[in-house]
Amino acid sequence: MNLESYPTNRLSGEVTCPGDKSISQRILIIGSLLNCDITISGFLDAEDPNSTMMALNNLGSSIKKDNDMVSVSHRSKPLSNPSSCLDLGNSGTGMRLLTGFISGLNLVATLTGDDSLSKRPMSRVVDPLTLMGKEISTNDGKAPIQIKGGNIKDNFEYVMPVASAQVKSSLLLAALSSRKSIKITEPKVTRDHTERMIQYLDGSIEILESSQDKTIFLKCSKLSKISSYEVVGDFSSAAFIIVAALISKNSEVLIKNVGLNETRSGLLEVLLKMNANIEIVNRRKTCNEDCGDIIIKSSKLEGIKVPDSIIPNIIDEIPILSIAACFADGQTIIKNASELKVKESDRLHATSMGLKAMNIRHDLLDDGLIINGTQDDVDIHEEIESFGDHRIAMSFLIAGLRSKDGVKVKNCSNIDTSFPNFSKIMNNLGMNINE
Ligand code: S3P
Repeated sequence: MNLESYPTNRLSGEVTCPGDKSISQRILIIGSLLNCDITISGFLDAEDPNSTMMALNNLGSSIKKDNDMVSVSHRSKPLSNPSSCLDLGNSGTGMRLLTGFISGLNLVATLTGDDSLSKRPMSRVVDPLTLMGKEISTNDGKAPIQIKGGNIKDNFEYVMPVASAQVKSSLLLAALSSRKSIKITEPKVTRDHTERMIQYLDGSIEILESSQDKTIFLKCSKLSKISSYEVVGDFSSAAFIIVAALISKNSEVLIKNVGLNETRSGLLEVLLKMNANIEIVNRRKTCNEDCGDIIIKSSKLEGIKVPDSIIPNIIDEIPILSIAACFADGQTIIKNASELKVKESDRLHATSMGLKAMNIRHDLLDDGLIINGTQDDVDIHEEIESFGDHRIAMSFLIAGLRSKDGVKVKNCSNIDTSFPNFSKIMNNLGMNINE
């Protein structure tokens, strides 16, 4: 499906942020382990969490969706080997987290995914799980992943070579589901939703943070059962709305219930440094996650050098940050972001191709982008390829609001993996996106 986005003068109104994808997937997995009746509100009803849900049901979990509510039910039987392959679709989080979780349960399973997921590196989880004692095979480090046998060792210690919350969470889930202890050190701080959820459920988890790194000690412990869980809004989805309001003229938008976990919301810090007019109100905590409401007003942005240390905390937001940089005064420099090459697409290449079509002067680096902003609306003379990547598609549709005559973005169906109502929500705020 291709989408077109046309110039927009002003965005206004309020919107409730769609549920967090990372947290929605984690509560399904940990909820299945708890084996009790849980009602989940705020769940993100999108393709990625849904493929994780189907995979868990294939393992014998009992998860049901009913309008806005999702329920995990108590089972009389333990989780068991699935009757068929587990298809995780486009979801790297689903595949990597479930590989750890299933490994810890000592089950035998094969995990597959779509074309994009089948090209992404899986050795980053399979290698440490193998060191932990598992026998797992892959197709040269890629999916399908076959989890065969082996027992998870106790007191495994691991220093993560890549900054990846998916790797960290996969190992934590392997330890949790096998009832073993583990110590993981991360040189760069990544999103900590798994740790927070374990803490929320009274698990024995200790976190030591130094100026060099962060170490997480998970001790074998029983988690407390809960009867309900509320998923906060997804900061990564809010990011598209935030940048749209900032780069359009005379806009004011309120986004309610946005997750503000500081390992996720680094984009706010970056945008504030770029002179963005953003205010956070009604800060609160929901199920051990920070959240609040965000008021955004049109701003005269200024280019900056993005600090290297913040990259893991803005990793999903770099495509939309690049669009903000297009309309900022001066240069924005993003480096140390080579992880973007192994996301749903090579996001450095995909962003650079789109910027080229927008006539934005920029340099594509091996690990980042240097973008020279313009004050003018842009002439987008070519159709933009999203490479089937939801965040690339949404980023360039937002860019369309500052185009002279609109933009056509190709291959947008995967927006449904993370933000199914994207066009509707943006159009309600004043944008003009259609097929
Ligand atoms: C995620 C972690 C990040 C992020 C992805 C979701 C998670 O991936 O890009 O969208 O839920 O843990 P990496 O761990 O590969 O950086």
